[in-house]
Amino acid sequence: MKKSIILLLSILITTIAVAQKETTEAYNERMEWFREARLGIFIHWGLYSEGTTSESWAMYHKSISWSDYMEGKASVFTAENYHPEEWAALFKKVGADYVVMTSKHHDGFALWDTKYSKINAKDWSAAKRDVYTPYVDAVRKAGMKVGVYYSLCDWSHPDYSPINFPRPEKKLRKLYPYPKMQTYWTKWSRFQQFNLNQMKELFDRYQPDLIWFDGDWEHKADEWPSRVIKDSLLTWNPNIVVNSRLNSYGDYNTPEQDPPIKTPERPWELCLTMNESWGYQKDDNDYKSPKFLIETFVRSVAKGGNLLLDVGPKADGTIEQRQIDLLEEIGAWYHIHEEAVRYGQPGIPYGHFDGETTLSADGKSIYLFCMGKFNQMLTLRGIKGEVQNITMLHNKLDVPFKIQDSTPWNDIPGIIVMDVSQAEDARYVSVIKVEFKEPFSLYRGIGHGVELND
Ligand code: GLC
Repeated sequence: MKKSIILLLSILITTIAVAQKETTEAYNERMEWFREARLGIFIHWGLYSEGTTSESWAMYHKSISWSDYMEGKASVFTAENYHPEEWAALFKKVGADYVVMTSKHHDGFALWDTKYSKINAKDWSAAKRDVYTPYVDAVRKAGMKVGVYYSLCDWSHPDYSPINFPRPEKKLRKLYPYPKMQTYWTKWSRFQQFNLNQMKELFDRYQPDLIWFDGDWEHKADEWPSRVIKDSLLTWNPNIVVNSRLNSYGDYNTPEQDPPIKTPERPWELCLTMNESWGYQKDDNDYKSPKFLIETFVRSVAKGGNLLLDVGPKADGTIEQRQIDLLEEIGAWYHIHEEAVRYGQPGIPYGHFDGETTLSADGKSIYLFCMGKFNQMLTLRGIKGEVQNITMLHNKLDVPFKIQDSTPWNDIPGIIVMDVSQAEDARYVSVIKVEFKEPFSLYRGIGHGVELND
């Protein structure tokens, strides 16, 4: 009891110390690599990768019992063809900067051999080993940042609530052992401690660069308690980056599936499935096209966001060919257009161009993303600066252009009209680079009468 009071007190003291310390400068420094990143790969791997139900939710919605899900699927989770170095090589080839894999989804199954629950890959599945450490090692070795997904809710934990499906409570008790001194704690304090313990275990073992929480909606911030969690993480690793699903204590926004229409004020990342599922599902054939995925990637980057694209490996550790093909298509496109995407900064406001744009860091170039087939001409409006040249990124060919109707005495720049009648589009999305002699500026006025005619 004494020990636990000391632990709680020390957490509280570090909490106050860290909470007071973080300045905008320190935050910006911590977020630097994340802001520079463009593409992340999300991996949902767990018992559900057996492939016939959704991840965790199937149990929640009572379409499968706890035992059929947790025990039935465990015998299929063999990881017998699991080669994380091949995964990492593939992701690296596509152009990923970071990878985030589920260490534990809402169902409670941990992919590492946690000492705090028996429901883990080593003790609970046919894999009979920790499958998380090899992932961390492979990703780090390939030169990408390591992200750890961790579900705050644990629907198999006997002390967790709310639970809205029947569970074998007595059996669960044995699967989540706790030290004697916690006998007189409330169920919820035991659960809070359990979560902190598992997080500490993950931090000690893997020193993650990013932690990706999920499930925060099941409790309020002071119940998890989110602030204590955030500050503990920062004490364990002052450089950690935390997604937004820690109530309001995250570092960046985490929209899901649809890119925001308005540019978020702080860094952000869109997480996106390739079909309709996060985990592997045999019968989910509703795959998005490479064009759709590339367009979504562009729409995110143009607004300063990253794309976190999800992959759902099978229970044996292989990735479905359809997912590999999609990744390769994206990678091939990204490779050709890296200049506009990896090094591109958020674009100019809508109204200047009919589509997404990014800018070069020196402020001299605008990249125009053309999602459709070329049709005669394109226009770029309200840009003050002298055009040096206009080229297509994929074939390096010049695009003929003229400046239409400028009125320099009113400081109105005119319209850059590009002739694309002969241009060949790139596969999926074409990019045109408009380069100016000096850094350009924007004309945001409302027009003017022409006072000086010839
Ligand atoms: C949702 C789902 C979860 C999935 C996550 C990924 O929050 O609960 O199943 O892992 O989205 O963003």
